[in-house]
Amino acid sequence: MLKVGLVGWRGMVGSVLMQRMREEGDFAHFEPFFFTTSNVGGVAPQEAGGAPLNDAKDIGALSAMDVVITCQGGDYTADVYEKLRHSGWGGYWIDAAKTLRMQDDAVIVLDPVNMAVVKRAIDNGIKNYIGGNCTVSCMLIGLSGLFQRDLVEWMTCMTYQAASGGGATHMRELLTQFGTLNAEVKALLDDSHSAILEIDRKVLAKQHSLTAEETQQFGVPLAGNLIPWIDKDMAPMGTPGMSLEEWKGMAETNKILGRGPGFGTEAIPIDSLCVRVGAMRCHSQALTIKLKRDVPLAEIEGMIADANPWVKVVENTREASMRELTPAAVTGKMHIPVGRMRKLAMGSTYLSAFTVGDQLLWGAAEPLRRMLRIILEK
Ligand code: HSE
Repeated sequence: MLKVGLVGWRGMVGSVLMQRMREEGDFAHFEPFFFTTSNVGGVAPQEAGGAPLNDAKDIGALSAMDVVITCQGGDYTADVYEKLRHSGWGGYWIDAAKTLRMQDDAVIVLDPVNMAVVKRAIDNGIKNYIGGNCTVSCMLIGLSGLFQRDLVEWMTCMTYQAASGGGATHMRELLTQFGTLNAEVKALLDDSHSAILEIDRKVLAKQHSLTAEETQQFGVPLAGNLIPWIDKDMAPMGTPGMSLEEWKGMAETNKILGRGPGFGTEAIPIDSLCVRVGAMRCHSQALTIKLKRDVPLAEIEGMIADANPWVKVVENTREASMRELTPAAVTGKMHIPVGRMRKLAMGSTYLSAFTVGDQLLWGAAEPLRRMLRIILEK
């Protein structure tokens, strides 16, 4: 059995990964070794069979693994990956962090969409398999039927991204802010005769007076608000006015699909405006898709629905959209609904769509555990 080292299995993404691996019986297929950056010698999960936690910075211990799978984050990857490779280690590195994603010797994994790219890379001896940006992965599971047929001329993604994209502390901050705002107007809310504009004024005053500590993660209030910028400014990279999250939309989508200059083909233009909203762990996206040719809507729905077992076409009605196409409906679920599909006023090759995905499942953990299975079964 291959030896697999697990790093960062206790954090938010790592915990979801562990849960999914247990649900799918993955641990029966390899010998697990659990690593830690903070509790060396501590008690490992039951799958370790009583062995203590290993040191995640110990290059010797890591290099005894056939596969390392990490959700420990980008700083860990930056600290350990090069040292491990320089030690001569030739194992498989599976990583949730973005650090290695765009390197030539790394593949962004999303096998229901790019199994051919993954298989070719394995055959070519590529050893680095990196999970994609959550927004990109969820969008591609939903829309792959159109990309498979090379039907997309260009696309825009207007995103509504959940607090979890920032991390566990961001989710806590959002919920704490909701509580703070509620407490501020609780007495007025309890009085059905109180004036709504008085409630609104007090909420706004409280949002404006939240302390630096109360907005430590997001920098400004997110509760009752939104933030139209996610991650770094790309100005130093020559694209001022674009956020890193927006840049990833085109770069990663094309790399996942095996398109663009690195593959000797034209990249599909994809541009985004990424917005943080007060949802918990589902990222939603409103898409405008320019099709290369006019395809009837029913055919488009069929192509999208048939692309993989997880995508679910939602009827474009008020009832179905409200019931099935929301973060609250999709959280914790493996399926990716795609709805609000209709041709736009601009012409019959312009399509709108709306999709929602759990950013901890298909957006983070699931592509990693599936990649591990691909390696184990090859
Ligand atoms: N960058 C994403 C976000 C999460 O901030 O929502 C991880 O891909």
